[in-house]
Amino acid sequence: MKPITATNMNVNELKHWRLAIEDGGIAVAIFDKAGESANSLSAEVMGEFGRILDQLDLYPPKGLIVRSGKEAGFIAGADIGEFSQLDSPEKGRALVARGWELFNRLAAVSYPTLALVRGHCLGGGLELALACRYLLAVDEPGTKMGLPEVMLGIFPGWGGMLRLPQRIGAPAALDLMLTGKTLDAKRAKKMGLADDCVPPRVMEPAARQLLLSGQPRRPLPFKLRLMNGPLKGVVAGGARKQVAKKARPEHYPAPYAIIDIWEKHGGNALVAPEVVDRIISSPTARNLVRVFFLQERMKAFGKASDFKAQRVHVIGAGVMGGDIATWCALRGMTVTLQDQNLERIAPALQRAHKLFSRRLREPLRVRAAFDRLIPDPVGDGVAHADVVIEAIFENVEAKHALFKSLEPRMKPGALLATNTSSLRLEDLRTVLQRPERLVGIHFFNPVAMMPLVEVVEAEGADPAVIGAACAFVKQIDKLPLPVKSAPGFLINAVLAPYMLEAMRAVDEGISPETVDEAMLAFGMPMGPIELADTVGLDIAMAAGKQLAGGAEPPHCLLARAGQNQLGKKSGQGFYVWNEGKAQKGAAGNVPPGLADRLARPLIERTQKLVADGIVADADLADGGVIFGTGFAPFTGGPLNFSKSP
Ligand code: NAI
Repeated sequence: MKPITATNMNVNELKHWRLAIEDGGIAVAIFDKAGESANSLSAEVMGEFGRILDQLDLYPPKGLIVRSGKEAGFIAGADIGEFSQLDSPEKGRALVARGWELFNRLAAVSYPTLALVRGHCLGGGLELALACRYLLAVDEPGTKMGLPEVMLGIFPGWGGMLRLPQRIGAPAALDLMLTGKTLDAKRAKKMGLADDCVPPRVMEPAARQLLLSGQPRRPLPFKLRLMNGPLKGVVAGGARKQVAKKARPEHYPAPYAIIDIWEKHGGNALVAPEVVDRIISSPTARNLVRVFFLQERMKAFGKASDFKAQRVHVIGAGVMGGDIATWCALRGMTVTLQDQNLERIAPALQRAHKLFSRRLREPLRVRAAFDRLIPDPVGDGVAHADVVIEAIFENVEAKHALFKSLEPRMKPGALLATNTSSLRLEDLRTVLQRPERLVGIHFFNPVAMMPLVEVVEAEGADPAVIGAACAFVKQIDKLPLPVKSAPGFLINAVLAPYMLEAMRAVDEGISPETVDEAMLAFGMPMGPIELADTVGLDIAMAAGKQLAGGAEPPHCLLARAGQNQLGKKSGQGFYVWNEGKAQKGAAGNVPPGLADRLARPLIERTQKLVADGIVADADLADGGVIFGTGFAPFTGGPLNFSKSP
């Protein structure tokens, strides 16, 4: 490959791109953002790409391949830092125009273009790839394509709303744009987003061959063409109904805007500047961008240590241990799972098989994951494990006996973690030779669904162990939140007074349905009464005793728990449960101020935990409560919400 010289191409001052012309006349633009480990599209990056196109206008190549120079993937999306600095409608519109115009220009060049997509290709990155004539996806686990702008409260305004429906049809495109879901390389090919999907070893020749093939794009089937034309209104109506089931327009305006811009403006947001202004300046977008940065901050806790686990040993194959082991195996680790006998491990393996099948789909990958999850009733895995996680009964004596037998068998440097919810780490570690090495790694139920994991630091714990625990949590793609050892840590401690207040409202005669509706309308993913039923009313009772500061338990809870009505697991609690679903009646009129009343104790407890130093600062508390409880993300978290006018 011959680099372009300053004499024939004036692109030698590029900071973020390299451009080379191969002997055969193919130009290759390599994106390698300076000073960053992942590529994102900033104003400067896009300006440089424009200059590359200028030069290629002057000296048209046989074809152009756009690819990444990073290990980390193709392009992660737009530079969100720039987005968060927009402070006027003019700047917002200019940002949309910048990508819309650049990618239209790319789409219109006279020579064939190809995006070689390896690793993540998201948001603006996919919009760039969609503007190329061909998209070649490299089949490896990290390859993911999608338009997740909606998760930041905005829309894919750089051509995504125009080109994705044209490429794969409106129903699939809207599904991707409205949910933020991503596709792997094989699915991208199957759906027509990628023209082809190849293994890494043949990607270079395959890219050149496809680029010069002259091959026309696979046309959309007739029905999908109709859906982009005369049937647009029907598709848009259906999509609005789907969105309404999940997101209220007053909380999340962006998905509704995406449907409108596609249906009424051909995917061009610039012809609807009022929509651009409204969405970009919305508190929702501001707060969701804030949540994005909070998430990045939590991920960063996992990057501070170079601890890396390959083998994990989990003791206790119950609700939590079984699912923790499964999750680690899904994430590529070799996991041994111990319980008192094989019969107790079997249900966990059954659940594991279901999860692997759902998540991995391909039989070979499902099989490989299943092979990584090894039942180990005797505990042979302890000696080989990098991380040992205890998830047995919530009982100090049982845990003591276990720790005593574990510690001498563990590898030096291995982590010893407990998943306890309510026992003091300071009490649990008294039997250890090296008590400073015990760490809490507190998962939430259901493990596969909940993104947050609290990393619990007991008094005097070894900071290296806490760092390693955060690295492990990040390694299994969860968000680590360091918290100090205190009853309920952060998440259970803030949920307890909130659920208590909800039950007090029921004691006052407000129906469970109405209480739940108040918080659903507030933006919670689940009402507090349904949450209590889901957690189990026995557990709610126990948590109340520990966390309610001596307050009387609510009558409605006492009565039900007294009759062994424990919620979802017993089929009856506040609601009757049928096939895992609460059978709810109609909610009554929500009394004014009810949601604020119920949210207040949660907010106040969060403030107190920040003041007590249980979590490092208010931002992390907000991030933790959002990812640990589902607290309405559009509010930016409980403390951010409490500051809003
Ligand atoms: P569980 O009762 O479903 O499972 C406990 C398992 O541990 C049982 O299968 C039991 O046979 C096994 N076990 C007990 N003693 C053992 C020993 N000495 N050796 C090997 N296996 C032994 O309990 P669950 O709900 O999974 O809770 C486990 C831990 O996780 C507890 O510390 C709990 O506080 C914590 N936790 C529970 C959550 C939940 O929602 N259930 C959420 C977060 C943490």
